[in-house]
Amino acid sequence: MPSIRARFIVLTVTVSVAAAANDTLFKIPLFEVGEIYMKRVVNSGLMDEMPNYMNLYSPTFYIILTVLSVAGYILYGLIFRPIDRVRFLSDVGYRPDGRFSKKEIANSVMKRRVVGNIPPVYPNGWFGVMESWKLKNEPVYVSVLGEQLVVFRGDKGEVHVLDAYCPHMGANLGVGGRVVGDCIECPFHGWKFRGHDGKCVQVPYSEKVPDFAKVKSWTSVEINGWVHIWYHAEGIEPTWKLPELEEISNGRWQYKGRTEHYINAHIEEIPENGADVAHLKQVHEPFMAAGTDLTTMWSKYFSWGQHKWKASWHQMSSPDEHVGCMTVFHDLKFFGISLPLVKVKVNAMQIGPGVVYLTIDGSIFKGAWLHYLTPVEPLVQKLVHNLYMHWTVPNIVAKFFMLTEAIQIERDIMIWNNKKFEAKPVFTRTMEDSLIARHRRWYQQFYSEHSPRLKFQKDTLDW
Ligand code: FES
Ligand SMILES: [Fe+2]
Repeated sequence: MPSIRARFIVLTVTVSVAAAANDTLFKIPLFEVGEIYMKRVVNSGLMDEMPNYMNLYSPTFYIILTVLSVAGYILYGLIFRPIDRVRFLSDVGYRPDGRFSKKEIANSVMKRRVVGNIPPVYPNGWFGVMESWKLKNEPVYVSVLGEQLVVFRGDKGEVHVLDAYCPHMGANLGVGGRVVGDCIECPFHGWKFRGHDGKCVQVPYSEKVPDFAKVKSWTSVEINGWVHIWYHAEGIEPTWKLPELEEISNGRWQYKGRTEHYINAHIEEIPENGADVAHLKQVHEPFMAAGTDLTTMWSKYFSWGQHKWKASWHQMSSPDEHVGCMTVFHDLKFFGISLPLVKVKVNAMQIGPGVVYLTIDGSIFKGAWLHYLTPVEPLVQKLVHNLYMHWTVPNIVAKFFMLTEAIQIERDIMIWNNKKFEAKPVFTRTMEDSLIARHRRWYQQFYSEHSPRLKFQKDTLDW
């Protein structure tokens, strides 16, 4: 989607070209064109039928026109434009106290919080690096999983992901580097590195290229509108694949918007939520209009609306043991009466440590949320949701789904941002707690001997 600046430039250029054409080709100054138009309208007698405020010479007319244009633009955005809700680390998930800014509160909570005896910080598996539409002709510098990467598209359209730092003198290939054919050219001295294996193929001022001049090339795949990389602490190549969603590839489901959140927690806390059926009532029952603040969402003014949930979780068996499945039934009740339109079943397929496909199966509404969770730093997670729905679903309906989901996630974020990772939870002998215990055992498959830990932790395998 063109930015506001791009649209402004296009508009300015169009008006300037029109004015110049009138002026030079037809020798009519622009204001004269306007005057001719005004006279035609006035002479047509149209104005006599118009109420006073429609008088083209009256300032009131232009004020009303401006207000209507702005309102029309806002309404257009509301109804037709896909949602793009971005919330940074201090935007949500902390309790404001009126004396400090959101950033100050976030910083102080982060400093004071007990981290707990956390598992390794970067699990093994496929992770979303960036959305495909953000990758144009320029290389993009991305920092994920504690790695500094450059992502670029070669001349044949294929995506490459390399380590960002040039082995010559350490320049960042993602900042000022240029794509040349299948290669990326370093912005500092022009060394060229091949996309598919990271090998240096040209040094502009030397006939010979050192054999060992190369950067790490990451195994990547582009599907479902995302660029993914395979991360494995032991250097093992992919042991499973991410499935492609056919409805997205063939266009039956269309892109309806995105949300992006930053969370201050260990990565495992987020997928664990999928097996935590007991928190659904406690955190997600209050009506979405009651907001994201856990301390105020139980307001009696919104008690007439309630989200009702039923859920279960299980892990798949071999060869899909890397997949966990949550099934959720959602029902929205107003004054105790169900709204059939938003009664949906959601199948959440957690594929590895950081990707979830949540398929929406409603009576009318079908589609999927793609959920991408990627650590940016050991305890900072980037969570992006893309919503795809059947092409017949109006954007305004899709927005409602997206907003419901975003508000519910932001309530979870308030829990995650403030909690510690409890390595030895006190569990009851109930189905609810046993599911969480099972999820923890299931998630351990994504850690291995050399999985990175937080620096201050001793290097043991006691997770
Ligand atoms: S630092 Fe990259 S070519 Fe010199
Ligand atoms: Fe939740």
